[in-house]
Amino acid sequence: MAHSTGYTIGFAALVCVVCGVGIASAAVALADRQAENKKLDQQKQVLAVAGLMQEGETLKPDEVKKRFADNIKPEVVDLKGGVAAQGVDPAGFDQRKAQKDPAQSREAPPNNAKVLRLPNNALVYKVLKDGKVDTLIFPIEGYGLWSTLYGFIALDAKDTNTVKGITFYQHGETPGLGGEVDNPKWKALWPGRKVYGDKGEPQIAVVKGQAGPAASDAYRVDGLSGATITSNGVTSLVRFWFGPDGFGPYIQHSKAAGGK
Ligand SMILES: Cc1cc2nc3c(=O)[nH]c(=O)nc-3n(C[C@H](O)[C@H](O)[C@H](O)COP(=O)(O)O)c2cc1C
Repeated sequence: MAHSTGYTIGFAALVCVVCGVGIASAAVALADRQAENKKLDQQKQVLAVAGLMQEGETLKPDEVKKRFADNIKPEVVDLKGGVAAQGVDPAGFDQRKAQKDPAQSREAPPNNAKVLRLPNNALVYKVLKDGKVDTLIFPIEGYGLWSTLYGFIALDAKDTNTVKGITFYQHGETPGLGGEVDNPKWKALWPGRKVYGDKGEPQIAVVKGQAGPAASDAYRVDGLSGATITSNGVTSLVRFWFGPDGFGPYIQHSKAAGGK
């Protein structure tokens, strides 16, 4: 039996409305769970760069939360002042959201990492060991070839100079080329390297070709082969975040306070 044109259009419209309502409801209903999963993923990344979660180790959500709560103390830092920001609860602070909000961020000065905006406050993670701050974990980001790379870098709190780990949790570089930033073997080249040179300038660099071992070639890390542009991006972004517009002032204060 043939239906009238009006029936066909009406039926199609009804299907669209029903599907639209379904998708919208799912998006609303799942928003909280998505936010929770995002938070959990960040916690996993922080644990990994702190060396508190091994490569390939799988943990249940509750185990991640517990390990994080037992070992990590987040701190919101006033980037310019280099001290803890007063009255900002780290649990509710989203640095990437703040960075996009004109009221909570400013234009970044021109820089090689191609960071466009700087949040007024940033989220640093302190790793505690026997009640003392053992490691400091800093969020980092900057442009590679195709994309902004987002990650974390960990420094030894005793000298605020020796790298303990690096990880990127989001980027759009080419798998097998710039995407090798995710290769555990490349990440394993970072611990033991030094960030700051004798004059207090960030000196660490991802070089073209191979670097020596950390003990004798502390400021250089092997380049990613076929991906010099991503490698240079990593150099720029690490130097930027440890420089005067990034965590430089905070690190100066931490040093003065004896790593507290
Ligand atoms: C499809 C395609 C994807 C590429 N992806 C990357 C990349 O993710 N990162 C990168 O630095 N270079 C990438 N390159 C290579 C760059 O264009 C450039 O040749 C390279 O960075 C130079 O590095 P090299 O001097 O180590 O060869 C890509 C090239 C092609 C054709």
